[in-house]
Amino acid sequence: MKLKYLASAVAVMMLTSGSAIAKNDLASFHTEMGDCQTCHVTGKMKDIKKSMTDSQTHENAQCQDCHGSYADLVNDKLEFDPHASHLGDINCTSCHTGHAKPELTCNNCHNFEMEMPFADAKEKKKWDGDWNQDKIQKAIDKGPVETVDVIVVGGGSAGFNAAISAKMAGANVVLFEKAPYTGGNSMLAAGGINAVGTPQQKAKGIEDSVDWYAEDAMKGGRYKNDPKLVQILAEESAGAVAWLESLGANMDDLKRSGGARVERTHRPSGGASVGPHIIDTLRVAAKERDIPVRVNSRIEKIVLNDDKSVAGVVVHGRHSGYNMVAADSVVLATGGYGMNKQMVAYYRPTMKDMTSSNNVTATGDGVLLAKEIGASMTDIDWVQAHPTIGKDSRILISETVRGVGAIMVNTDGQRFISELTTRDRASDAILKQKDQYAWLVFDEQLVEKKKMVRGYEHLGMLSKANTIEELAKITGMKDLPKTAADYNKYQASGKDEAFGREDMPINLTKAPFYAVKVAPGIHHTMGGVAVDTDANVLNLQSWKMDGLFAAGEVTGGLHGHNRLGGNAIAETVVFGRKAGENAAKHALEKK
Ligand code: FUM
Repeated sequence: MKLKYLASAVAVMMLTSGSAIAKNDLASFHTEMGDCQTCHVTGKMKDIKKSMTDSQTHENAQCQDCHGSYADLVNDKLEFDPHASHLGDINCTSCHTGHAKPELTCNNCHNFEMEMPFADAKEKKKWDGDWNQDKIQKAIDKGPVETVDVIVVGGGSAGFNAAISAKMAGANVVLFEKAPYTGGNSMLAAGGINAVGTPQQKAKGIEDSVDWYAEDAMKGGRYKNDPKLVQILAEESAGAVAWLESLGANMDDLKRSGGARVERTHRPSGGASVGPHIIDTLRVAAKERDIPVRVNSRIEKIVLNDDKSVAGVVVHGRHSGYNMVAADSVVLATGGYGMNKQMVAYYRPTMKDMTSSNNVTATGDGVLLAKEIGASMTDIDWVQAHPTIGKDSRILISETVRGVGAIMVNTDGQRFISELTTRDRASDAILKQKDQYAWLVFDEQLVEKKKMVRGYEHLGMLSKANTIEELAKITGMKDLPKTAADYNKYQASGKDEAFGREDMPINLTKAPFYAVKVAPGIHHTMGGVAVDTDANVLNLQSWKMDGLFAAGEVTGGLHGHNRLGGNAIAETVVFGRKAGENAAKHALEKK
């Protein structure tokens, strides 16, 4: 029998056992119903620890076996139901822990005041490593407990793409992720994947070229990008979309991102968020290919042989402790450092107090691991502020909202820049406005086009009114009615006389009207590990480091000093695949 969520489970327990719960934690509750075997492989205390994998695969399966899938658990009466989360299947044990204090993963970004059942346990869940050098050394001295061809570090889009590609190239591969769930920052991506020459662009009659794509990326990056990396990104972008589609993704919708001269950002049709969609697709693709994906497994060191070639890693598993796993190739796909306050304060002190749209996992581990063994860094101090993070929150208001038609105004309701400018310019312009924040204003037409806006409304982030005048009144934007009237004229004539906005898909005429407060916050770290065009990591002499590869936000060079929207996911797919293929080739040649 499947239980309908834990809230009702307490009542069920009272009925079935007839006794009170001794301790209000999940483990005590379940042992009242059976024994430790209700959750674990064995009921014998002394064998439980040995029987547990770091991913707690059995325990997670047990949860779903008794309680049903996330879909079964959705409670329509709740305002926010974590089981209907945009993050997909993040493992029950990411939030519900038997012996430790449960934590709502959603609250890493949101601030839901939600009661978690069985919240009395004292111990706080720990999954970040302690970089314990003694334990690391002991693991190395003990020797590898396992040998594979390719180790992928990080379970975001770059990591999954690398792992799947390495496996398809014939390598034996394992993916490690330090968090209790996969997805990384990619899981939060709201924009899409830039690509040129796709059937989607052709179907819409959009003229584009590899040269235009590359030029836009270079211009957006203030010409500080590595042109060779940019060229590869542009050339292989259509292949990246086709690859995702071959794995089951839908990339049929197109939009224009800031700094792009045409619509080339591909996203799922029907309004699903791109990040969760891609991550769900990749999770399934990895599973179908029998790729071991181990969560709760933090890489603490990259181990080198005496000749400086890669020997493997030391992994700190939540249950297994410190162990060395050997491999001839390691792919770093650990993401950026946007959530590492210390690193931000060190590399970009002016941004140290900014909020961030990043997943809590974006703590720069790959940069630290690679630096420790002598890797070179490119543009490590370049950090991107995204102009439109919900004010006083960590929730990104996607560039899509501006791309599809919203205007951006200051607290008086006056526009101050083209909404389609690049992120660095938009952020700088906002910070020059009174109170250093802005409003995005749009109407019902936009909501009908982009369902994601309903999510912002659901989160209580939107001001809403039946007329522009009323919206101006409730938000204090006194000049908004005039700004909207002027904008509607520009939109009708196709010429933005105020700021030269190039694309004005919709006007502001259809009630209700909406506004959301936004301010710049850390979104992407452009700098990172130096790589060549084959995803080899380079050392301080710019030689490739034998067996070490990297892809995604952990690397530097591709985006120069400012990344364009839609180029991060493109990077994770294009260079994730390249890293995986080359890592497999390297390891298989060494055999
Ligand atoms: O604003 C956004 O939708 C972000 C997209 C991106 O960072 O690529």
